[in-house]
Amino acid sequence: MDLVLTAASGLYLMLPALVPNSGAVLLGGGTPVDFGRSWRGRRILGDGKTWRGLFGGIAMGIGVGLLFLLGAQQTDPVNYWGFGPYPENVGIVCVLAVGSLLGDMTGAFIKRRMGLKRGQKAPVLDQYDFVAGACIFALVFFPQWFIAQFIAGESIVALITLLIFVPVLHRTINIIGYRLGKKKEPW
Ligand code: CTP
Ligand code: MG
Repeated sequence: MDLVLTAASGLYLMLPALVPNSGAVLLGGGTPVDFGRSWRGRRILGDGKTWRGLFGGIAMGIGVGLLFLLGAQQTDPVNYWGFGPYPENVGIVCVLAVGSLLGDMTGAFIKRRMGLKRGQKAPVLDQYDFVAGACIFALVFFPQWFIAQFIAGESIVALITLLIFVPVLHRTINIIGYRLGKKKEPW
């Protein structure tokens, strides 16, 4: 039972990082973050990274995280379901949301440098850039929290669950985005 809870925590503790990626697909559009500029003959980031997607996605991630904290306050006001004590937990939520979309933009930057156009497949990078960004940000800003929740002892199960679930989520969201006409490719 404990192990099941730990596995589940790998997903819900990362929701503030998972939501922005989906939020960006749903809310994205408009002016690209790189304002259409190129570097060495290739787009810096490409049209798939927009300001609306960036801020909308981050706002959605933080919003969902804060709702979680509000819920946790009712039943677990000390540990907030593993998000840590107030007010650090608010910081954790923000760091996960911001880190996730910065990771996603870093992924796009790398893809453009590799000569891949917007939406062209880059296995591993496409699925994990945003999770990696969120994990690195969490490790830098809240190392004790991240290690306790995702690395130390049995909590590694949370990380493994996350890594298994994320490609499935990524694919599902992109198919939805494709059907809504927000994405050119269903991957
Ligand atoms: N999106 C956005 N702004 C962001 C991130 C994403 O508007 N900062 C939107 C774009 O519509 C993008 C979609 O979300 O097409 C899906 O994101 P992603 O799969 O990461 O982008 P790709 O279109 O595959 O482009 P890239 O090759 O640059 O990853
Ligand atoms: Mg991406």
